[in-house]
Amino acid sequence: MRIPLDRTSSQPIYLQIRDRISRMISSGALSPGEKLPSIRCLAQTTKVNKLTVIEAYGILEAEGLVEAKQGSGYFVSDAQPCTKPCTFAPDQKVIIPDANHPTFFDSYYTAIQAHSQPGIVDFSSGIPSPYGLEELQKIARRAVTKISDGLFNYDLPEGEATLRKQIAQMLLQRGLNVTPEQLIITNGSKQGLSLAVNYFVRSGDWVIVESPTYVGLLAILEKIGARVIGIPMTAGGMNLDLLEKYLHSHHPRLIYTMSTLHNPTGITTSQAHRQRLLDLAIQYQCPILEDNAYEGLHFDAVPPPIKALDQENLVVHLGTFSKTLMPGLRVGYMVVTGDPYQTLLEHKFFSDLHTSTVSQAIVSEYLASGHYRRHVSNLRSVHLHSRNVMLRALEEHFPPEASWTVPQGGLFLWITLPENLPMRDIRQQAFSQQVLISCGSLFFPGRQSYPATRACFSLEPQAIEYGIATLGKILKNHLKTA
Ligand SMILES: Cc1ncc(COP(=O)(O)O)c(C=O)c1O
Repeated sequence: MRIPLDRTSSQPIYLQIRDRISRMISSGALSPGEKLPSIRCLAQTTKVNKLTVIEAYGILEAEGLVEAKQGSGYFVSDAQPCTKPCTFAPDQKVIIPDANHPTFFDSYYTAIQAHSQPGIVDFSSGIPSPYGLEELQKIARRAVTKISDGLFNYDLPEGEATLRKQIAQMLLQRGLNVTPEQLIITNGSKQGLSLAVNYFVRSGDWVIVESPTYVGLLAILEKIGARVIGIPMTAGGMNLDLLEKYLHSHHPRLIYTMSTLHNPTGITTSQAHRQRLLDLAIQYQCPILEDNAYEGLHFDAVPPPIKALDQENLVVHLGTFSKTLMPGLRVGYMVVTGDPYQTLLEHKFFSDLHTSTVSQAIVSEYLASGHYRRHVSNLRSVHLHSRNVMLRALEEHFPPEASWTVPQGGLFLWITLPENLPMRDIRQQAFSQQVLISCGSLFFPGRQSYPATRACFSLEPQAIEYGIATLGKILKNHLKTA
């Protein structure tokens, strides 16, 4: 652990050490039960007297943040007396852009092309850790052998029956009770988004999105000429008071939401928030498109999807295996109940007949063999570790004016930066040092954003450390000259 100290500050050194460790605990960068560096080691790395460290640890112990264990050293307390309240409290400004400016195509291209550069640190993409290649090879071989009869045939547009049964079973474990007949297997959830938006929305219609939101959805809305209302996110999800106001005044045709592990903020809404959102949708008869692409990647338990509360066939729910297995499989699914099912199925059919039988067979084999559950569980541990590495690196290298969300899963931290930073220049400078970031404005309707960036943490620890340190230096230089 490195603790930067300001030796010119009037604040005593032991209090600076105490403050830094306390902040790391409350932000989640240090986890309950984690061992702190020994007194000798911390004194050496921070170049201070051992008594200074003893004094800092003593205060942390008195505050209940750390515990001394006889003969083993100091540990972060299991029971935290006070957890820092979430600092995510952005301006609650509703955004209604004249025109949308999504640059999804450009940013996607840049990221995919950058991956061929050796040593690139890509914070801008949203892909899981490349974990379990050997297992995939075995499973893919078995899957192809099992479906050998169907390999040379077309499939039904709704997808393979066994896979739909398995997905229904998986969703039941998440608290969502659906039948295989209410599922359509899609070519990634991106296709589900496209089908649903085209079903509910016509050119000129109003659509509610969270701001910030998923840039891929903004691009779809732009393409069909929808008019967008960006309702600000709060620490607890979309601002529902503002939502109600705009449901009343604009009669939108669709509400798009990511209730679990929202992209880009990582926020998961509570059961109460989900219920109130659905109540508003019912009151104003506005369908909800619930896109929970990151649902499988939670560290803590999450409430059942909004779709589980829906008695009026007002919610279409989307999921994907892109974030838990791999995006290249292109296997996602839609849960659709009631009238829209048949039309959406026909649209899927007209779009591409059906999703790849080979990809479906691989996912099905993962689910049948129990490997999926184990794979996702391992992935969560790997991601929890890399999230913590990123939190620590941010504490160490980023300017104190920056703040970030501490998501309980998913792939991203949402970092709010000080005002007036030239984000495009910063992105360019970072890229010249092999670090690829996305400008936060990408995630807002009309790119009307406060300064921010989304950082994907599913990278190797050394890459995270290098990338955050590089970015931190660039940001500090800009702030010095501002
Ligand atoms: C919120 C959200 N929805 C949908 C998608 C599309 O995922 P896919 O089409 O790979 O399933 C993404 C991908 O990044 C996403 O972040």
